[in-house]
Amino acid sequence: MAKVIPVGIAGLGRYVPEKLLTNADLEKMVDTSDEWIVQRTGIRERRLAAPAQVTSTLALAAARQALADANMPAEELDLVICATITGDQPFPATACRIGLDLGAKKAGGFDLAAACSGFVFASQVAAGLVGSGQFRNVLVVGAEILSRILDYTDRNTCVLFGDGSGAAVFTSLERAGRGEFLGGSISMEGGAETILALPGGGSRHPASQDSVNQRLHFMKMGGTKVFRFAVRVFAELVQGVIDKYGRDQIGVIIPHQVNQRIIEAAMEQLGMPMDFVFSNIDRYGNTSAASVPIALREAYDAGRLQKGKLVVMPAFGAGMAWGHLLLRW
Ligand code: UT7
Repeated sequence: MAKVIPVGIAGLGRYVPEKLLTNADLEKMVDTSDEWIVQRTGIRERRLAAPAQVTSTLALAAARQALADANMPAEELDLVICATITGDQPFPATACRIGLDLGAKKAGGFDLAAACSGFVFASQVAAGLVGSGQFRNVLVVGAEILSRILDYTDRNTCVLFGDGSGAAVFTSLERAGRGEFLGGSISMEGGAETILALPGGGSRHPASQDSVNQRLHFMKMGGTKVFRFAVRVFAELVQGVIDKYGRDQIGVIIPHQVNQRIIEAAMEQLGMPMDFVFSNIDRYGNTSAASVPIALREAYDAGRLQKGKLVVMPAFGAGMAWGHLLLRW
C-alpha cells in the first residue's frame, strides 16, 4: 500500500476502572507477598472492572476521551479497530458495540487479536489505511478485562495483570497537527501455545465440562521464557530505531508495561538511562493491548511527548508476536 498521505494522531484517551486490587489484597488470596511482587515486577496495584462492566464499556470511555481530544464527532469516524483478547464475547466483534454506543454511524469496524502487541499492530493498520487514502478517520482502541480470564488461585499469573483501555484517533497529519506516524514493525513466531495462552474456548479445546474442570478457560503462562524473549526483542526494536534515526532523536520510550525488571534489563542492554522510559506499571500492572495507549495518554498529560522528538513504542506478547510503533510528536 503506497503511502500518499502523511498520517498523524489527532487525539488520545485512556480509562481505568475505579476498583483497586493491591498487593496486600493478593496476599490474602494466594501464597505471595508485597515484597515478592514489587521486587520481581515493580507492580504495587492494578485496576479491576466492576461486575457490570464489559470490555466495550471500558473501551467507550477511552474512545470518548480520544475523540474529545481530537475535537472530532463520532459521526466522522470511518473505521473502529478494537485490539483485545478479552472482548465482550468471542463474536460479534467488540468494535461493533463500540461503534454503536459512540454513535459512529458511518464507521465499519473489526477486532484485532494480537494480545499485548494489539494496539501497536492495530495502529499500523489504521495508519496504513489513512495513509493510502482509503479512510480519513480511524479510531484504535486497546481494551482488556483480563481479570475475567485470570485464575486467582495461580500466583504465577494473577499478580501480574489488570484491566483498562486506551485509544487513539488516526487522521491526516494536516488535520491532526501532531503525532506523525513514521512506521513500525509487526513480527511473529508461532508455536507458543503452551508458553502464554488461553487454551480453552476455541476450536482446540471447545468449552465443555472437561475444559472447565481442567481450568482451561484461564490464562496459562511460562513466565521465565516470556521474560527472556521480552528483554531481547525490546532491546532489538529500540536499537533498530537508534540505528535509523540516532539516539538523540528519541524523546521517550513507551514500552508495553510488562514488568519493570524487563524494562530495566532491556534499557541496560541498550546502554540507555531509565530517564528515556515512561512507565506506569506500578499502578496498573500489565493490561495487555491497553497498556501502551494508557501509558501514551499519561505520557502526553505528563508533558513527556516532546515536540519534534521520537516516541518509540515497543510491544511483545503471546504468539509470540512483537513489534513497535514509531511517531514523531
Ligand atoms: O505481556 C507478556 C505477559 N507476560 C508477562 O508479563 C510475564 C513476564 N515474566 C515475568 O514477569 C517474570 O518471569 C515473573 C514475574 C512471572 C516471574 O519472575 P521470575 O524472576 O522469572 O521468577 P521465577 O518464575 O523464576 O520464579 C521464582 C520463584 C518460583 O519459586 P521456586 O520454584 O523457585 O520455589 C515461583 O514459584 O517465585 C515463585 N513465584 C512466586 N512467589 C511469590 C512465582 N510467582 C510468585 C508470586 N509470589 N506471585
